[in-house]
Amino acid sequence: MSTESTKPSQYDSIGAQYDAIKSLPIIKEVETANFRKYAVELLASGKSRVLDLACGTGFCSEKLLEWGAASMTGVDISRNMIEVARAKAEQSGKDADGRLQYQVGDVLNLGIVDGGEYDMVTGVWLLNYASSREELTQMYRGIRANLKPSGHFFGVCEEPQEDLDTFVRQRQLFLGGNRRLFGLETEYTERLASGNGYVMETWAHVDPPFTMRTYHLRKSIIIEAARAAGLEGHCEMRRMEVPEEVYVKDKDYWALYDSFTPKFSTIFIAVERAESTRPF
Ligand SMILES: C[S@@+](CC[C@H](N)C(=O)[O-])C[C@H]1O[C@@H](n2cnc3c(N)ncnc32)[C@H](O)[C@@H]1O
Repeated sequence: MSTESTKPSQYDSIGAQYDAIKSLPIIKEVETANFRKYAVELLASGKSRVLDLACGTGFCSEKLLEWGAASMTGVDISRNMIEVARAKAEQSGKDADGRLQYQVGDVLNLGIVDGGEYDMVTGVWLLNYASSREELTQMYRGIRANLKPSGHFFGVCEEPQEDLDTFVRQRQLFLGGNRRLFGLETEYTERLASGNGYVMETWAHVDPPFTMRTYHLRKSIIIEAARAAGLEGHCEMRRMEVPEEVYVKDKDYWALYDSFTPKFSTIFIAVERAESTRPF
């Protein structure tokens, strides 16, 4: 992997601002809570040496370590995000025993990271940076190359939809004037010429606000690309649930959120490198 030498990224100007997104209720109470539930499940089954791709400022890498990972390596294309992650780890002392380290690198050109053979590779908001089937296959190749044969990839992405044209039309109609609900505002700005997806722009209404440009590819592409890259095992997608104890604290807010699902939904995707007898 080419370390410390990737091209400038949109996240270089976001850096430390990014972590404010983690305080939004839909991230803190739903995404992180669900991430914890499934990550703990996988970590408990021995998936403990973890490679966190698109690690950003290290939020998930630190959480995985806290939840039981034996060691964590985070990789991100943005030098600035990695600098923030390293500074946080140094400040908290989490990197003191060498179990947490970060590298600058492009997942589209990953190679083997520190000897590979990871029990688990994570990618929380990674796959949505692939603009085509080819790029997604390339990302999955990097994932596969770093996994043990029984290893899992475990990520978070937009809810995969096959008929994205209808989905995008319905979503815009459904949202109407309520675009800023839940602190994130997303617009599908351009249909890809391939017909395989859309360009998305997401505004995070945090202080200070920032925007992210990503892609939403068709469901079949998400699966076909994994298979083309040699990830042959079980593939599972799970929708995020609002935990009961969170729901009861503000029923109106979460009932509104539920009424927007799946228009807003994000999911977990887990793909095994090879077929195994133990289901995810
Ligand atoms: C929305 S942030 C998610 C960060 C982190 N996973 C989290 O959930 O807090 C997306 C991250 O993906 C990184 N990224 C985008 N494309 C990438 C690529 N090709 N290789 C490595 N990182 C990439 C960005 O730099 C950014 O830090």
